[in-house]
Amino acid sequence: MTKILVNDILVDEQDAKVAYNDRGYNFGDGIYEYVRIYDNKLFTAKEHFERLLRSAQEIGLDIDYTVESLTEVVRKLAEANGVTDGGVYLQITRGASPRDHAFPTPPVEPVLTAFTKAYERPLDKLENGVSVVTTDDIRWLRCDIKSLNLLGNVLAKEYATKYNAEEAIQHREGTVTEGASSNVFAIKDGAVYTHPANNLILNGITRRVIQWVCDDEGITFNEEAFSLDFLKAADEVIISSTSAEVMPVVKIDGETVNDGKVGSVTRKLQAGFDRYIESHSH
Ligand code: PDD
Repeated sequence: MTKILVNDILVDEQDAKVAYNDRGYNFGDGIYEYVRIYDNKLFTAKEHFERLLRSAQEIGLDIDYTVESLTEVVRKLAEANGVTDGGVYLQITRGASPRDHAFPTPPVEPVLTAFTKAYERPLDKLENGVSVVTTDDIRWLRCDIKSLNLLGNVLAKEYATKYNAEEAIQHREGTVTEGASSNVFAIKDGAVYTHPANNLILNGITRRVIQWVCDDEGITFNEEAFSLDFLKAADEVIISSTSAEVMPVVKIDGETVNDGKVGSVTRKLQAGFDRYIESHSH
């Protein structure tokens, strides 16, 4: 029987329920993380849970969990479900309380749920690349918080799905921010460009690993906002996320990127990423 983590307890999937007045359900008032499992080990768990604690702090959510305690419960859950390759989604909401926009006073107990998902590396797409479309970024101005409130991202992803694309790359008045569930990189003349990690994007953990690889390899990593035109004229384009890893983009809005082949800088970043899977999975 598949187990779900509810607060500190592993329960059978059929018994895992949240309240109708949970603030996560009513307001999207909560935060989440997705941690990848490779070969029975958690990849960059520390970075993910540090980001979760930051998200909690940014929304004024008081929680007792630590990086260590979260790592431990997530490991227990993955083990219980026998997931050796996949990931864990973990959500924490501000809890169940009579509906009122303002925080409950006194605070109620936060509600944590976590579930596993078996998942294989997208090797074919990593080899051949994917197509993306572009769309307006209609989200709020605190995209640095990994909030459960994902309606803007959901609508962007649905737009991509409608046009048979892997991802929707969002832009604010022509300035590229990030994908619906990924970060975006343009490579020009051997240098990597990506939006600064400010309030307009999620500071992706995979993005950080790409930065480490750039440092290792002496590849220039520019945290600089760029335009849609710059993206479309790039030598190589990448999207990155915990599930997509270092994913080459070969088509944008139906037009090929460069010659439509995956480029050499992308290959270097992918190889470097694979090395980090080895060294940062515990
Ligand atoms: N999403 N930007 C957004 C809006 C995201 O939702 C994600 C990840 C990223 C990449 O972050 P990371 O490299 O830490 O996964 C960037 C996860 C995978 C999800 O919602 O499933």
